[in-house]
Amino acid sequence: MAALGISAFQRPVKAKVPTADTGRPVRIGVVGVGGRGYSLLSILAGIENVHIPALCDIRPERVAIGQKLVTGAGQPEPEGYIQDDYAYEKLCAREDLDAVIIATPWDWHARMAVTAMKAGKYAGVEVPAAQTLEECWELVDTTEKTGVPCMMLENWSFRRDNLAVLNMIRAGLLGETVHAHCAYAHDCVTYFCDAEGQPRWQGEYLFTRNRDPYPTHGLGPVLSWMDINCGDRFDRLTTVATEPFGLRHYLQKIFGPDHPVLRRPVTQGDVVTTIVKTVKGKTIVITNDMVLPRPYDNRWLIQGTGGIYSQEHGAVYIEGRSPKSHEWESFASYQKEFEHALWRNAPADIEQRGHGGPDYLELEGFVQAVRAKGPLPLDIYDSVTMSSVVALSEQSIAQGGAPVECPDFTRGRWETRKPFFALDM
Ligand SMILES: NC(=O)c1ccc[n+]([C@@H]2O[C@H](COP(=O)([O-])OP(=O)(O)OC[C@H]3O[C@@H](n4cnc5c(N)ncnc54)[C@H](O)[C@@H]3O)[C@@H](O)[C@H]2O)c1
Repeated sequence: MAALGISAFQRPVKAKVPTADTGRPVRIGVVGVGGRGYSLLSILAGIENVHIPALCDIRPERVAIGQKLVTGAGQPEPEGYIQDDYAYEKLCAREDLDAVIIATPWDWHARMAVTAMKAGKYAGVEVPAAQTLEECWELVDTTEKTGVPCMMLENWSFRRDNLAVLNMIRAGLLGETVHAHCAYAHDCVTYFCDAEGQPRWQGEYLFTRNRDPYPTHGLGPVLSWMDINCGDRFDRLTTVATEPFGLRHYLQKIFGPDHPVLRRPVTQGDVVTTIVKTVKGKTIVITNDMVLPRPYDNRWLIQGTGGIYSQEHGAVYIEGRSPKSHEWESFASYQKEFEHALWRNAPADIEQRGHGGPDYLELEGFVQAVRAKGPLPLDIYDSVTMSSVVALSEQSIAQGGAPVECPDFTRGRWETRKPFFALDM
């Protein structure tokens, strides 16, 4: 397996974690072995010198499936933690673990990551890392007090195209970045509801909340493109949501007008639009669109004083470089020229390793950091900045789209922090 340069992930912050014996394997426990947890587990089990001594899920059959996967990869059977909702506490307390990966429902993320950090284990937590501002601060406070790093597993920050765009920006092609757009536009209605139209845990929120529930996939690359928390930061945001139409339309179409779920009032708007203004006066538009029928789309766009990149167009315009004045040119040659080291050095079969490769890169970076007892590829400040949009968008919608202030999770350090994410060699 091709090794990825640790330097690609490093930043000049020393984590206060006891020095480890780098000769032994990295030992990771996984909490939540559902759809996502299983996928992460299968990637981890394929990374050299990674051991999985423990798995936790409230559903024993899911732990059993995970155990089979790990033994199939030639490792001893991991111990299963299945007793109750809080069995993860026992897993986190094990002395033979270096890190914990968390892929449970959203309400569990922050408290599980906090428990892991307090037990001295690196935490890798699925998206979004937190549901409330209090949880965001608890994550920040815990990592600062314990010195144990925690990272939200935002895989879209590691996409091949997004990392090439990052290199273009760092090479100065777009000049000073000014405006970005991003979206999570994905018809998830059959993920929210089961085959009988009953809401799964993700779908239950459609009846209780109105917010952007899933802003981090869009925001991941944008944070690095715009040096958020490293020279600029979110200042305020405003959010509006459409009324809910999509779920009722879907349920009526598939199950008819008498389906019992149609009697429950839906609170979650179908399309949610947030505009963030940064303290430097830049803007980011974030769209969430998860119930209406549509193809998948992230709609990334980044624009600066020197030009623009548009994922939708698959194109760039770079002033003074693009062949025709004010006309798009294909992004393909830029993808090649600005290919990021993480992708240049990636294993040949990278595209088979989770969502076309980014999942492998984020986990490989996580494992390398744990092994080196160094900082994680994405830090807690970026993790909670992305996640805080869940709570802040809900506040703004509830106030008729009024601007709400974004907390400075770095406590002023954004002014002097230097960009660290995915520094190329
Ligand atoms: N990054 C990505 O690309 C991506 C993709 C899909 C899902 N996700 C995220 O992954 C997380 C899990 O999503 P999923 O689709 O796998 O859901 P899922 O329902 O398939 O899996 C969640 C698992 O957690 C278990 N669980 C629930 N409460 C628990 C507890 N207290 N202790 C231990 N286990 C518990 C459930 O039994 C289930 O097996 C979500 O946060 C989701 O947003 C991320």
